[in-house]
Amino acid sequence: MEDVERQRNEAFWQQTVAFWRRYDEMEARLTRPVSERMLDLARVSPGMRLLDVACGRGEPALPAARRVGPHGWVLAVDLVEGMLQIARERASREGLKNIEFRAADAESFQAGETLFDAATLRWGLMFMPTPERALESIHRALKPGGALVIASWAEAARVPFASLPRRILERYRDVPLPNSDGRPGVFRHADGATLDTVLQENGFSVEASEEMEVPVVEATEGSAIVAWIRAMGGAFVNLVDEMPQHQQHAWEKALATEVEKYRVGEHIVLGGITRLTLARSSGRKPGG
Ligand SMILES: C[S@@+](CC[C@H](N)C(=O)[O-])C[C@H]1O[C@@H](n2cnc3c(N)ncnc32)[C@H](O)[C@@H]1O
Repeated sequence: MEDVERQRNEAFWQQTVAFWRRYDEMEARLTRPVSERMLDLARVSPGMRLLDVACGRGEPALPAARRVGPHGWVLAVDLVEGMLQIARERASREGLKNIEFRAADAESFQAGETLFDAATLRWGLMFMPTPERALESIHRALKPGGALVIASWAEAARVPFASLPRRILERYRDVPLPNSDGRPGVFRHADGATLDTVLQENGFSVEASEEMEVPVVEATEGSAIVAWIRAMGGAFVNLVDEMPQHQQHAWEKALATEVEKYRVGEHIVLGGITRLTLARSSGRKPGG
């Protein structure tokens, strides 16, 4: 079962590479405050060594590299080479030399001899089939007492960018409940207690948790928000594509109308509440 989940996870992220490339500038701009706040919570400062797991197109790895400066170092890890390629191009545009990118599965990743002062994991852990294994890898790589900051999404009702398209699709067809059985997905750690427990069981103490509202997509027209959702692909978009054309158009029209509620002046801005959890490595082996 885990192997099937693992393959599904990797295949999903691989097919999203073109999407992330297309929307890279917008995502970097809109979600920058989240990366910066994560680095504040981890107290990232010049000279530090930071590990960013599931860095995608380089978040928060690239802002971290700017903060740690020439005497510090960032190792940015992601499962998908295509994601790392976007991140490498961003780093080279910014002239960042103190960052290395490595394609690896966070669940089996070995950092080697280097021990890191801090680690970050933005919107990645919830998609991994066995998050506890990823936490073990991070625990091994961190100095005792090192900080780990994780960003996860709150419950569906407070994350409209992910839940609104689905709620509207329910008018036209059955839509399976996401993560209702604790399986990987966007709302897996929506209940903060679930994440706290998995952290505590894997060698971390939870020090603080806070919420932040974050815009994820903006556009002047509802149709552009619909295009953004469709471009992401994956299981949800397959559910849309399986419907007859007239129902697909009806869903698109209804969604484009519904997102008008999120218009602020010229732009429709859709996002959600993210939870930032600050944990600290206990220094003891997980389970020990
Ligand atoms: C929503 S993106 C977040 C990327 C980036 N941290 C950000 O906030 O923009 C999720 C990322 O997790 C990565 N990912 C998923 N499972 C992974 C695993 N087992 N090991 C490493 N990376 C993984 C995906 O390839 C993808 O880049």
